Amino acid sequence: MTEAQRTPLIAGNWKMNFDHLQAIAFVQKLAWMLGDAKHDFDDVEVAVFPPFTDLRSVQTLVQADKLPIAYGGQDLSTHALGAYTGEISGRFLKKLDCTYCIVGHSERRYRHVESDETVAAKTKAALEAELVPLICVGETAKDLERHEPSAVPANQLRGALLDVKPGTDFVVAYEPVWAIGSGAPATPEQAQNVASVLRRVIAQSLDEETAAKTRILYGGSVKPDNIVGFMKCPDIDGALVGTASLDVDAFASIVRYKKHATY
Ligand code: PGA
Repeated sequence: MTEAQRTPLIAGNWKMNFDHLQAIAFVQKLAWMLGDAKHDFDDVEVAVFPPFTDLRSVQTLVQADKLPIAYGGQDLSTHALGAYTGEISGRFLKKLDCTYCIVGHSERRYRHVESDETVAAKTKAALEAELVPLICVGETAKDLERHEPSAVPANQLRGALLDVKPGTDFVVAYEPVWAIGSGAPATPEQAQNVASVLRRVIAQSLDEETAAKTRILYGGSVKPDNIVGFMKCPDIDGALVGTASLDVDAFASIVRYKKHATY
């Protein structure tokens, strides 16, 4: 599979924003705007990652109106069931028809001290629940002082893929921690350099075929005015968008990046 055959994915990570009523209003407006613009969802896939408490509302809306928008959880438990107060099982997310689940977002790794082992266990839990894990990796500014840019993300990805079999469907998001929410994204060149190393990690950990078909997203201060630069990179197949995914005009504009690209 080549770059041209991988369907780009534009994913909105809402983090802890929007209650279920706001989620409904947002998804309705997004679907209306993209429908009005005749967006081809087979050409560029769209997914949102609402808080857990919004997912049932999003599911109901998406199914009632047959919206071509995918959705997923922002995290999941390493366990399937049991005495884990406050945790959410991948099985519950699957039951809500989630397609994806984010694992290893830097805010989980650093604020909730999730290790590479935890991220590997969550990746496994997502796959066992038949969810597509969206595995986030990325280096901090401190890591960059000590290592070359791809060293930490490559190690994190190797760790997350320990229990993953060749051929498995998953997505990788390269998100330099220093670029998240900072308004200062990586350059497309920096992002491409790391993304190409991550694709090699997939080939080494699994196989070439899996590496060729896996979508690698860039995340970190993606905006309508910088998305095109990232999408021109041969190893970048989409974006994981935080701040700009909360503004329906900005997010729809990122989804429709081909309309403002001069290829
Ligand atoms: P940002 O967040 O777009 O606000 O930088 C990206 C993310 O954390 O996924």
